[in-house]
Amino acid sequence: MYRITEKSPLAPNIFLLKIAAPAVAKKAAAGQFVILRLDEKGERIPLTLADWNRETGEVTVAFMQVGKTTRQLATFRVGDSIANFVGPLGKPTDIEKFGTVVCVAGGFAVATVVPIARAMKAAGNHVIALMGTRTKDLLFWEDRLAAVSDELIVTTDDGSNGRKGVVTVPLKEMLEKGNRVDRVVAVGPAIMMKFVAATTQPFNVKTIVSMNPIMVDGTGMCGACRCSVSGETRFACVDGPEFDGHQVDWDELFARQRAFVTEEKQSLEQWQRQMAEATAAQKTA
Ligand code: NAD
Ligand code: FES
Repeated sequence: MYRITEKSPLAPNIFLLKIAAPAVAKKAAAGQFVILRLDEKGERIPLTLADWNRETGEVTVAFMQVGKTTRQLATFRVGDSIANFVGPLGKPTDIEKFGTVVCVAGGFAVATVVPIARAMKAAGNHVIALMGTRTKDLLFWEDRLAAVSDELIVTTDDGSNGRKGVVTVPLKEMLEKGNRVDRVVAVGPAIMMKFVAATTQPFNVKTIVSMNPIMVDGTGMCGACRCSVSGETRFACVDGPEFDGHQVDWDELFARQRAFVTEEKQSLEQWQRQMAEATAAQKTA
């Protein structure tokens, strides 16, 4: 069992958890992820690592309440335990001295981008961080990202903080001005990563994206996370999660992400009914 040692809200519906998982903390690297299962009947969900502390043996993850499992996870408190917490999984981000690296974070994926930017900076790169959210209430960790970057640009879709618009707007401007960019690493919603890759392609800037397909076993056995990259089938859990964004078949990824929407909705509704019944039973007891 893996005990929750800290829980804090980061933004509406977005939480940070610290979990005691010394074996994961010992080997964790930027860009990797864990697969967790809340209890023995639970589904497995992947979460990318936001941080780790090899001394205390704690691992930090951030998640948004979206479906049944993430909503159930949001009900867990400090002291509660998660049944399974497997990792670190996947290949770490390729960290080298590339020159100027732009790290793009969409929404709560900023939690994943902070360790990547930190590692890129530690390798001697000039790091430009670009973070975007829909509105200012969803912004968090600007300070942490600023601390591991040389420049930080914040955008909000509605203009309530930083520049108005999506993250690809300043990225495109930077490239059109002829500013030197040797590599882009983008983590966020798939649609954002697709458009980041489309923005950099005409400028021939290598663009790494972190794929987030459905995962089950996380070991390359089940095929749930398969995606097409350069026309070949790759498994995000073992071959990725990071791939060359210019080579990803985005339409296939979107279709696979939507494959179980009906079942996910049914599972959430069933869990909400069970929660409501349990609450009603407690009130009448
Ligand atoms: P969101 O939908 O609010 O989008 C965040 C930002 O992405 C927007 O503010 C905008 O700047 C940019 N964006 C969105 N659509 C765009 C488009 N069409 N063109 C250009 N830019 C665009 O994000 P959210 O609701 O916070 O969700 C975060 C997403 O990140 C989730 O889908 C989650 O699964 C994903 N995520 C992925 C990883 C990973 O490792 N791949 C890790 C954490 C989170
Ligand atoms: Fe099963 Fe990747 S999650 S092969």
